[in-house]
Amino acid sequence: MPKLPFTKSEYEQRQESLLNSISKNDIVIITTNDVMIRSNDVNYSFRANSYMLYLCGWEEENSILLMENNGSNWIKTLYVNPTNTEKEIWEGRRQGVEGARKFWPVDNAKSIHSLFQDLVVVKSKNKKIHINQKPKYFVDLIVENLESRDSFDNFLSNVNDVNILIDKLRVIKSNAEIKHMRASCAIASSAIIQAMKKSYSGMGEWELQAIIEQFYKMNKSQTSYIPIIGGGDNSTILHYKKNNSVIEEGSLVLVDAGCEINGYASDITRTWPINGTFTKEQKEIYKIVLKAQKAAIESCQVGFDWNKMHESSVLHISEGLLELGIIDTDLGDIIGENFDGRYRDFFMHGTGHLLGLDVHDVGGGRKGDDNPGPSLQPGMIVTVEPGLYFSKWRSDVSIPDKYAGIGIRIEDDILITENGPEIITKSCPKEIEDIEVLIRNK
Ligand code: GLY
Ligand code: MN
Ligand code: MN
Repeated sequence: MPKLPFTKSEYEQRQESLLNSISKNDIVIITTNDVMIRSNDVNYSFRANSYMLYLCGWEEENSILLMENNGSNWIKTLYVNPTNTEKEIWEGRRQGVEGARKFWPVDNAKSIHSLFQDLVVVKSKNKKIHINQKPKYFVDLIVENLESRDSFDNFLSNVNDVNILIDKLRVIKSNAEIKHMRASCAIASSAIIQAMKKSYSGMGEWELQAIIEQFYKMNKSQTSYIPIIGGGDNSTILHYKKNNSVIEEGSLVLVDAGCEINGYASDITRTWPINGTFTKEQKEIYKIVLKAQKAAIESCQVGFDWNKMHESSVLHISEGLLELGIIDTDLGDIIGENFDGRYRDFFMHGTGHLLGLDVHDVGGGRKGDDNPGPSLQPGMIVTVEPGLYFSKWRSDVSIPDKYAGIGIRIEDDILITENGPEIITKSCPKEIEDIEVLIRNK
């Protein structure tokens, strides 16, 4: 019997919470992701859509969850790939219609090949459709029954975006979700510790990546995004992922590498000296980032505005840059109304984001989003990840030589609770002395 990450009743509660805000005359369609081609006959490994995982835990490709009210009850139907011996010989076993109906938190299951006919009936009743996304496989399923692609928009004309309703639910994690998040954070923290312990001057960025990915695999986990392993000047590239340079003696390495457990992501960054000893200049910058990060974590309090944590980290980053003479404007000008001060030359990203099934999780809260986001509530999980980056090659800003090539980010995952912020990646050291001891005493 397949083991789902949550109980049937937890999935049913989520479905019910969503359906409470949907008119009984409408239907909801949740699609999963497309299978993506990597090279001829070879696909990227498939990852189901997070809305599908959230509402029913179904992981197979080419599937649809359809929820329709029959007048008194909402009927939830999974449309799935039927069993097919020839296909399964190549691609692996399928749950098929029987498995889906028996083991998944739905009322019914059907072959995906009957979806079009059922949609024709829905359309004849003029029902409004709420959908999460229209991936290619879904469009193809319909278009192959129509005369042309142009008819698709006409066929699915009465359609609404359902995401925002589900996002509101996903933003607050249940106790069972928090359990998976804790597991994800614990594995990621241990993987980074392993990488610190095995660090030596002259090693390849790819070797640190291998240590971390091996640890994830050994724990039946996988990366939640391509790990960022930047040594020396590569530490200043925010989303560096080539991971193919040698990490020279005296350099820092920035490692941003979370994992995924039962669909739930962790997202953690540590920066350390590859030889186990911070230089004076590396320490100066590290201390600024650490102070900013701790202040931002302190701002992760129930009821606080989302922007508060960014304000806190910007304040400390700006103060630190002023003290070191890297910027020289007044603090008032630096912070400014829109956080557009000079610090942005060296700290170019936000302080954090929501975390969950998606590593940059849904639910708003990120600066610049249409939805400016909620104030912090118990059960939210956020990252706190200020950084400072001094690229050697930049000519648009003036960087003292002694800091050139230093990139530092410190990122933890924080559960918002009534008792204050709980750092769920805290088992991974971030104090200068603790990191040095760990690397030197390997
Ligand atoms: N790993 C990407 C981020 O920290 O947001
Ligand atoms: Mn990260
Ligand atoms: Mn992050």
